Amino acid sequence: MKISSAEFVMSNSDVTKCPKDKLPEYAFIGRSNVGKSSLINMLTSRKSLAKTSGRPGKTQLINHFIINKTWFLVDLPGYGYARVSKSSKKVFQKFITAYFSKRTQLVSAFVLVDCRHEPQKIDLEFMQWLGENQIPFSIIFTKADKLSKNKLPIQINSYIEEMLKYWEEMPNYFITSSSTGLGKDDVLAYIDDINSQLKNLE
Ligand code: GTP
Ligand code: MG
Repeated sequence: MKISSAEFVMSNSDVTKCPKDKLPEYAFIGRSNVGKSSLINMLTSRKSLAKTSGRPGKTQLINHFIINKTWFLVDLPGYGYARVSKSSKKVFQKFITAYFSKRTQLVSAFVLVDCRHEPQKIDLEFMQWLGENQIPFSIIFTKADKLSKNKLPIQINSYIEEMLKYWEEMPNYFITSSSTGLGKDDVLAYIDDINSQLKNLE
């Protein structure tokens, strides 16, 4: 899919105030600092469409971007950010949960995990929650450039092995790097494919 336009629409913490348009929507979620905002910039080939930072906790709101004037891409705050106080963590959780349960336009979520790390409890629990709530999702392994060519498949395989302890099948997944552009075409083709199928249903 060629991205001919990518524009910021709005930020907010209230799902009822998100754009009313019934366009297909894809949301990027994962732990703080995993690379959600960087991935959005990589996918759209825009350097700073989504704000990124080396310090966790940069994205604090639900951010809508409209792509090719036909679908929404959503950048969400990270979960599991230790330096956020307990009370604001609760507020965060509340609006993220509300977003996923109430946003009927949401077609699929992408759960980002850093390919260097072992499966983290918080990610596994979040995927479990998505499953229980019948919210479709794919996994996106990020920062693939940080592992050697040999180490990368070993690490991915061990992640899959761990997932299969909880899931009958490994969810759909992508291996990406925002630094090298790895995985860009695959993720965009996947979204394009779903968008075409939805169009045919109209
Ligand atoms: P929050 O908004 O705080 O939840 O973080 P985020 O998940 O949006 O992460 P962000 O995109 O801001 O990236 C966090 C840090 O990781 C930044 O310093 C990025 O430059 C770096 N980073 C993100 N993706 C990659 C990648 O694919 N490779 C490398 N080497 N660094 C990356
Ligand atoms: Mg971010």
